[in-house]
Amino acid sequence: MSRQLFVTTALPYANGKFHIGHIMEYIQADIWVRFQRMQGNQVNFVGADDAHGAPIMIAAEKAGVTPQQFVANIAAGRKEYLDGFQISFDNWSSTDSPENHELARQIYRDLKANDLIDVKTIEQFFDPEKNMFLPDRYIKGTCPKCGTQDQYGDNCENCGAVYAPTDLIKPYSALSGATPVLKSSEHFFFKLSDQRCVDFLQSWTQDGKLQPEVANKVKEWFSVRTNPDGSKSEGLGDWDISRDAPYFGIEIPDAPGKYFYVWLDAPVGYLASLKNLLEKRGENFEAYMAQDGLEQHHFIGKDIVTFHTLFWPAMLKFSGRKTPDKIHVHGFLTVNNGEKMSKSRGTGLDPLKYLSLGMNPEWLRYYLAAKLNAKNEDIDFNADDFMLRVNSDLVGKFVNIASRAAKFLPDGKLVASGEASGTKSADLLRLVADHFDQREYAKAMREVMTFADNVNSLFDAAAPWKLVKEGHVELAAEKSSEAIQRFRVMAACLKPVMPGVATAIEQFLQCDALNFTNAAIPLTVGHQVGVYQHLMQRVTPEQLDALFEAPAASEPEKLTPGGEALAPLISIDDFAKIDLRIAKIVNCEAVEGSVKLLRLTLDVGEGQTRNVFSGIASAYKPEDLIGKHTVMVANLAPRKMKFGISEGMVLAASHSDEKLQPGIYVLEPLPGAIPGMRVK
Ligand code: 2FM
Ligand code: ZN
Repeated sequence: MSRQLFVTTALPYANGKFHIGHIMEYIQADIWVRFQRMQGNQVNFVGADDAHGAPIMIAAEKAGVTPQQFVANIAAGRKEYLDGFQISFDNWSSTDSPENHELARQIYRDLKANDLIDVKTIEQFFDPEKNMFLPDRYIKGTCPKCGTQDQYGDNCENCGAVYAPTDLIKPYSALSGATPVLKSSEHFFFKLSDQRCVDFLQSWTQDGKLQPEVANKVKEWFSVRTNPDGSKSEGLGDWDISRDAPYFGIEIPDAPGKYFYVWLDAPVGYLASLKNLLEKRGENFEAYMAQDGLEQHHFIGKDIVTFHTLFWPAMLKFSGRKTPDKIHVHGFLTVNNGEKMSKSRGTGLDPLKYLSLGMNPEWLRYYLAAKLNAKNEDIDFNADDFMLRVNSDLVGKFVNIASRAAKFLPDGKLVASGEASGTKSADLLRLVADHFDQREYAKAMREVMTFADNVNSLFDAAAPWKLVKEGHVELAAEKSSEAIQRFRVMAACLKPVMPGVATAIEQFLQCDALNFTNAAIPLTVGHQVGVYQHLMQRVTPEQLDALFEAPAASEPEKLTPGGEALAPLISIDDFAKIDLRIAKIVNCEAVEGSVKLLRLTLDVGEGQTRNVFSGIASAYKPEDLIGKHTVMVANLAPRKMKFGISEGMVLAASHSDEKLQPGIYVLEPLPGAIPGMRVK
């Protein structure tokens, strides 16, 4: 009977590109998924962008786009990485999808009907300029313990003290610089402290769904304990699941202005992406989830265990849904021993740079497989070790077998052969399959390489090249056939890790698509194999040097006299999006309460004027600007500022470091330009 598997990786925040840590997680999950598919199991492997939350809302505002546009831009870049590293997701969606809005709201309604939602009034820091409640990481101030300035709202990077944002001396908003005020607001809580939740989670987390080291850690969260700072924690507390507007998220049913905290709807995104996939295929989501024996597997990093072992299973259980079967937790990936890299040597392993240098994605997949086990231990990418493993294991031991043995087959045909000694092929396949299923990839890779060593040494001992010289052509063919048969078995074992090489080997051997069952049956005597073509290149030191070289744009000599490196290239279409117009400054005045800003009244030929604030008060007296023409960005979304709404932006030049070279220079067209003319 084939297994039905629903598999996910953690959904990445849509505020940045993938880094190597994401790619490692996807490769780990993808190897498992490909293995399961080779076993004939039915897998739906899905991902999505984690679109919501304050940081994405703020980043979008800074970029001058809507959060939806911001997230769409990030999403557009995902495919290049996923295809590049051969990650075989069946679907990629977003937590801002209609499916997720609907599912998250329904789960909430079900929890509420089950009397597990509470409303409490809490006090929080509020930014009076931005008109919003501030998440802890957007509050800074002076450490109450050691007096270091500019520390975050939850702990001090200098002395390590842990405190509440309200303990900070001279707190300020990292968004506006304003002094935050305490303000109370109603928040919604998921009653995790309810005895039903506690009882359920205590057994759910301890019955084999988690790795032993993870289950042990989770156990501590149920008991009253003393924190490092001496305070007491009380076991499971209720979970604050709401945030006040403005927030980019899903509105809570029957609670205008209240949104789900991003971590409430993020894991629901797993189900939403699956639903989206099934509906595209014309299948029914509810029926799929209701199947007997369906297994739900989540691959995640060790930093997000609480969400996946407490909140998420409880949300599912008490909304009457299926709970996960396994949470597979991995450690972090460090690069070159986590060594802090200098500017000149770069700052990590950029996945796209890896691909653009023409480095084979299967090298990385193999290297990670050779290091990964079923524990949540950290692993390190080490450049020298990487080169050694790829060149000696994959090229030296593995692909070499085919290139050495193929030459001695008469007319490229296999002859009868046996298995001389060492691990039998069928045993290797069983052992390796078991390791893959248990996510013990390093053990699987070691078995295959030991097997390869054995095949190579038997081949060396038989020395077919000598046999041929001595006239024993048939014996040479027999030894080579044996090596080729065993090479095919190894190719099957490596296929989940190196799908591309495995396909090339299937073509070379002219055999059926390999799996762990058919590979145990040798190819028949007389089987014709194809012409051997080189299967894999070696890694070169030059490639690794280039990979870890700092990007040229950050070199100081590339700076322009203006103090800033040139921005990345844009297309003419990108430029056309910016509508620049000639504007006449019909009035200009100082802004009371601001030393930086001037208030400009601009005529852009629209029959009515626009109000624009500009940070040029240090460079111009208001009366000097009145009557002048300038250039403005006319299609910038209006921005609400402390002193009013700004309806555009005036162009001005300045050095990036004002202290180094002071001065701001407002642009003025040559005589003749009239208000409303487009600048292009
Ligand atoms: O930690 C993170 O990157 C989160 N975006 C992971 C979310 S996983 C799931 F819950 F969506
Ligand atoms: Zn401190």
